[in-house]
Amino acid sequence: MRLSKIAAFTAFALTASLASAQTVKIGFITSYSGLNGNLGPYMERAVRLYLKQHEKELGGVKVELLTRDDTGPNPDKARQLAQELVVRDKVNLLAGVIFTPNAMAMAPVATEAKVPFVIMNAGTAVITTRSPYMVRTSFTLWQSTYPLGQWASKKFKTAYSLVSDFGPGHDSEDAFSKAFEEGGGKVVAKVRVPLQNPDWAAYLQRVKDAKPDCLMVFIPAGKTATALMKNFSDLGLDKAGIKLIGPGDITTDEELPNMGDVALGVLTVHHYSAAATRPANKAFVEAWKKEYGQNETPNFVAVGAWDGAAIIVDAIKALKGNLDPDKTMEFFKHWKNPNSPRGPIAIDPETRDIIQPEYLREVKKVGGQLANVEIETLGTAVKDPWKELQKKK
Ligand code: PHB
Repeated sequence: MRLSKIAAFTAFALTASLASAQTVKIGFITSYSGLNGNLGPYMERAVRLYLKQHEKELGGVKVELLTRDDTGPNPDKARQLAQELVVRDKVNLLAGVIFTPNAMAMAPVATEAKVPFVIMNAGTAVITTRSPYMVRTSFTLWQSTYPLGQWASKKFKTAYSLVSDFGPGHDSEDAFSKAFEEGGGKVVAKVRVPLQNPDWAAYLQRVKDAKPDCLMVFIPAGKTATALMKNFSDLGLDKAGIKLIGPGDITTDEELPNMGDVALGVLTVHHYSAAATRPANKAFVEAWKKEYGQNETPNFVAVGAWDGAAIIVDAIKALKGNLDPDKTMEFFKHWKNPNSPRGPIAIDPETRDIIQPEYLREVKKVGGQLANVEIETLGTAVKDPWKELQKKK
């Protein structure tokens, strides 16, 4: 009698403590190795820093991050990791992903398992149409390169487009060309380069021979952009009067010191610069340096993940830790943050894509260091232009 009472009490206590120590599991897939393997840690660090700052607001709910390396643009691996996280680890959410092909491959997993998927980088416009369980807190390449094309058409007559041959490159080429030609400019060539190790010298020599007023480049953020920059100046394209422009991926904040002075004067359009002087950004950069070291700088991958962590934390608070998939998606669709480090942002309930400002920036020296200085706001609440154009069709 006594024993069974104790057993019953123990069982009750166990259930009660389990309920109070509820855990939300996030299957976090990003690139820690392979092409752009340097970007994954920016994503993870941003999520961990946001969670650290906000864990006390979660009413005892714990967040567990199950991190996995997709090894770069590798859709089969990403799909397999997502399946394991969903089936074996029973994650409540999927999140992360630098590369478009990986996000595309994970879409059916999110749909079949009804697991909400927070995309923190991958930027090809079509991705979010592939599953109703996706929300994107990063960007689309249309959001940066369409306004870039509009702006460039007022400054230059001819442009040469050079992009990596995969989803976000194709989007950059399409968006830039459409806007540039609508504005009266002429795109003299559209060239696609392999994603891995393009022979820059050969491609850039052809650009030099074509003598365009500007060269628009998209390549994945990171070391590839530094290699491009060096070849651009070694071959004298800058001296030949060709202006290098592109989405902010080609002058990502953490690579600027490696690029050196050849990057000075490069003009880009993007939603995030670590050099932005908004108070919310200053606080973000300061917290980053305090946590990870004075020489460390967040970048646009970090801000996509920072706001991705914010949307997750806010959903946990609103739903008291019970992340029913459909209620979570409903919450995500109406989420807003007037005070992100990049400025005011919101999720478009129709497309589950982010609405955000886009800035024209120029690489300049600030306090002796290269920085993406925001010189003009090209739009305050830019929706993915590709989806807006689809609606009109
Ligand atoms: C993507 O694969 O969608 C991607 C990768 C790197 C970037 C931007 C987009 O810098």
